[in-house]
This record gives sequence, C-alpha cells and structure tokens, in this order.
Amino acid sequence: MANILVAPSILSGDFANMEKSVKDLEKWGGDLVHCDVMDGVYVSNMTFGMPMVAAIKRITSLPLDVHLMITEPERYVEEFVVAGASYLTFHPDASRAPLEALRTIRRRGVKAGIVFNPNIPFKDYAYLVPECDMILIMSVYAGRGGQKFIEETLDKVREAKAYIDSLGLDIPIEIDGGVTEENAERIRLAGATILVAGSSVYKSPNPERTIKILKGNI
Ligand code: DX5
Ligand code: ZN
Repeated sequence: MANILVAPSILSGDFANMEKSVKDLEKWGGDLVHCDVMDGVYVSNMTFGMPMVAAIKRITSLPLDVHLMITEPERYVEEFVVAGASYLTFHPDASRAPLEALRTIRRRGVKAGIVFNPNIPFKDYAYLVPECDMILIMSVYAGRGGQKFIEETLDKVREAKAYIDSLGLDIPIEIDGGVTEENAERIRLAGATILVAGSSVYKSPNPERTIKILKGNI
C-alpha cells in the first residue's frame, strides 16, 4: 500500500488562534497543512487569502497545501507561490487559462494540481493531467467544511487512478470533503493517497488516533 498522507484542513481550526490550530495538527501527525481559500464568488463562502497563507508559512515547517476556490485563479497563482504554497490546486472550471496557470505554478517550483467538484466529469479536464503534480477529487461540493461524503465520487477517484496509470504516470490523488474514520479505508482502496480532513480531525476526541486511522496505521 502506498504511503498515505493526511492534510488536516485549518478551515475547521480556530480562526482566532490559527497558530495553535497549526501547531496542533503538527503535533497530531498531520503531513500537510490544507488551506482553503474561498472568494465568495466561485463559492458563496469567504475565508482568507495570501496574507494568512504567508503567516502560516512563518510558523510551520510542514508543506502548505493551498486549495484555491476562486474565480480566475490564474490572476493569483504567483502571489500564492510567493506566500509559501508547496502544493497549489485550483478548479479548472473557474479558470480561463488552466494550462497556463498549471505551467506558471510548476515553473516556480511549486506542485500544481486541478480540482474536480462532484459535478465536473473527469474526462472534461483529463487532458490537463500530464501537466499536474497532483489531482484533487472533491467528495463534497467545495465551499464548506463538515458536509457529508458523497460516495459516488469514489468512482471518479478510480477513474482518475486508472487514467494516470494508463499514462504510466505517478501522480498522487487527493480527496477532500467528509473524510472520516469510517470511510477512509474505502477511499484508500479506491486509490487516493492524500486525505484532507477538517472536522473529523479537529472535532475528534483523539485527533492523533484519528490521523493514524485515516492513514490505515491502526
Ligand atoms: C470544502 C473544503 C474542505 C473542507 C473539508 O470546501 O475544500 O477542505 O475544509 O472539511 P471536512 O473534512 O470537514 O469536510
Ligand atoms: Zn479543501
């Protein structure tokens, strides 16, 4: 079995005490810090932008996994690179120039990826896969934490995995939304190797144990 990474989403952390929320996820064994950037346009919710990402970068040595839920992400990718993203993903259906955006990100030495909302067929953007370092499959509609996992999205994980394998590429698949101790094994078996988890980690009575379970180590 591939090495599984867990990316706790600070969206479920404490916005009045972000430093503690990040230090906590480090202590609990998180591998990446998942940062959800929402603009109130591509999704109705708003969260934070580059200043918050830059501030988090200063207080952690973990890689920052920045998930852009914004319109025309190509306008901002450079700034998120400067802010300290290690992984930078965006929704191609929100972009006028997804290929250029991916290339811009990679040229700056940052891992680039596209995100598939549940209503976006994999085949619509499969042509971009060879330009990616990561593929993010949403298992809820982007926009809010704490939603229920949409089981059918596992088919898209399997479809993406088969396509990546058919190209002879080794591109990790990340899954985001409603990931829990209960569904983690099914997710791993479908082929995802990076699990984003917001509420299931931050609301757990034992987050360290939850992360181990998500990784399949318990
Ligand atoms: C949803 C975000 C997710 C969210 C996940 O729009 O992209 O990253 O924080 O939260 P949970 O794990 O609670 O569904
Ligand atoms: Zn996310």
